Amino acid sequence: MGFKLAVSLILLVSAKAGLSLVVPPAPIRDQVGVGRIVGGEEAQDGEFPWQVSLRQIAGIGATHFCGGSVIDKDWIVTAAHCCAGQTPAFMHVVAGGIKLNSGEGEEQKIDIEQIIGHPDYDSNDLTNDICMLKLKSSLEFTEWVQPIALPAAMEETEAGTDCTVTGWGTLNEGGISLPNVLHKVNVPVVSDEECNKNYASSGISVTASMICAGLPDGGKDSCQGDSGGPFIHATEKTLLGVVSWGIGCGRAGYPGVYTQTSYFIDWITETMAKY
Ligand code: ARG
Repeated sequence: MGFKLAVSLILLVSAKAGLSLVVPPAPIRDQVGVGRIVGGEEAQDGEFPWQVSLRQIAGIGATHFCGGSVIDKDWIVTAAHCCAGQTPAFMHVVAGGIKLNSGEGEEQKIDIEQIIGHPDYDSNDLTNDICMLKLKSSLEFTEWVQPIALPAAMEETEAGTDCTVTGWGTLNEGGISLPNVLHKVNVPVVSDEECNKNYASSGISVTASMICAGLPDGGKDSCQGDSGGPFIHATEKTLLGVVSWGIGCGRAGYPGVYTQTSYFIDWITETMAKY
């Protein structure tokens, strides 16, 4: 039921704006392939210890459907469009691993106690695309599992700032298989003004609480399956954004758009205090 809902959401959004959201789940063994985050390379073990894989439990097993970031031993931050249609009982997170299909003994698979999507998330314009997952049991911080720091509230990041985005998403916008190993790519921040110009003809607006990144000629980007995952300051390693949307992947003139975490610090703090 959750899956049907998620799919209709994708169809609705893609029909509207040519966007595509969550990858249709396939059993994990069928997801192995040569894909990667667009234009990136493989991550090293322990390089991004806050990265988690969100898995959906279907008839045939557990499937990666989105990324997420560890911000606390009991909390994961992801995208609201990743949480849409999900129920705690039918999903879990895997932390501490860079391989989707094989464990290395460093992974922690944790069940979900509660899914808290942002109350103002709008699937039509993708505003407030952020969601928090309260874990059923605490993560144990190790060399492979560590939280990422949040930016200061309302902090703005200058255009051109070097950022890193990671995930198990596809190689390109048409990709159907996911890579086994976590991938990373660096992209510079694009100003909201510029990004709005980029998306003007598509009729979608880039709001202040979104942050864009990409190269003028494209070629480096996040893609389907990376959603919900971390977009971080390359050197300061703070969680500046959450993979949210884009038209295609890595296309020239269409930067990747991320939920700007600094706009949601109060909501994150309140949510952690409340649940
Ligand atoms: N919404 C996509 C997902 O569900 C991520 C899209 C990111 N697109 C981009 N061009 N940066 O995985």
